[in-house]
Amino acid sequence: MRPSTFLRLTGFGLKTILFRSRKPILGTVIITDKCNLKCKHCSVNNITAVVHPYEQIKNEMQQLYDMGVRILFFCGGETFLWRDNDKTLRELVIEARKMGFLIVNVVTNGTFSIDLPEADLILLSLDGDREHHNAIRGDTYDTIMRNIQNATSDNICLYMAINRINQSTVRNVCITARDTKNVRAVSFNFHTPYPDTRELALSKEEKAKCCATIVQMMREKVPVFNLKSAFPYLIDNRFPTPCHQCLVIEDGKLSVCGRCIDVPGLCNECGYFFVAEYTLLFRGKLRVILEMLRTYLKYV
Ligand SMILES: C[S@@+](CC[C@H](N)C(=O)[O-])C[C@H]1O[C@@H](n2cnc3c(N)ncnc32)[C@H](O)[C@@H]1O
Ligand code: SF4
Ligand code: SF4
Repeated sequence: MRPSTFLRLTGFGLKTILFRSRKPILGTVIITDKCNLKCKHCSVNNITAVVHPYEQIKNEMQQLYDMGVRILFFCGGETFLWRDNDKTLRELVIEARKMGFLIVNVVTNGTFSIDLPEADLILLSLDGDREHHNAIRGDTYDTIMRNIQNATSDNICLYMAINRINQSTVRNVCITARDTKNVRAVSFNFHTPYPDTRELALSKEEKAKCCATIVQMMREKVPVFNLKSAFPYLIDNRFPTPCHQCLVIEDGKLSVCGRCIDVPGLCNECGYFFVAEYTLLFRGKLRVILEMLRTYLKYV
């Protein structure tokens, strides 16, 4: 991260904590919900299958920027499916940079070639070892690993959603992150139980076991892009929700925190690590603040 970016984000954090501000800093644009996969744990693919046009996405980016957002995520559906005539995801990332976003990240299922050096981080979903990943995501593991090896930059962060199917493979994904070319780190979420995937949710005990494994992996020098100071809150679901500093926009509809905010009761069972990390940070939890500073300096 550039020193100027670091200083600006630190200044934002201090102001938010001191004045209990709800001004947003992190935004996500859903560029399409179209997807080539149908993962067992996912409730947001192919509901409309519309690929939103470039001008609309550009306006949504500008809207987020004008509201104060400086960390931008592109998400889907599958982001690498996005096209508008000759424009691809790469043009969106370049446009976001031009607009002035300080950090620009992309989330992908990794099944398409990865040529996106302009992104700060490419969060690439890997949901276990080959057997467990394929049980959730279809027969895609080998293609994804090949695409990672052949990527044109080393800005990939593996992204694992831990659920009842793959909870035994947290260690495998950590080792893969440590030992694979072009992979900078690994980041985790727990399954957030939408009404149609409730059976995949982890118990407190299961979450505690996963967190213990991740802490052990951190001790063994695996690059984990999460904050262990937030783990106790994630295990018990006792972090504040929603994240008021996070916004998401999909086809003109702006939501605080996530598009999941409309699902009654879901926030009480939220498994998204970024929500715990950001809300605890902005509540001024000192251990979270210090760990966040160290972690962002290391991986972004
Ligand atoms: C919705 S996908 C969109 C981007 C891309 N298609 C992908 O799979 O990475 C974004 C991330 O959300 C995760 N995800 C989907 N449903 C989830 C749920 N119910 N709880 C936690 N994570 C979930 C996916 O595993 C993926 O890492
Ligand atoms: S690849 Fe992503 S958007 Fe597509 S079904 Fe899987 S988790 Fe959902
Ligand atoms: S806190 Fe609620 S809105 Fe935010 S990500 Fe979690 S479930 Fe979604």
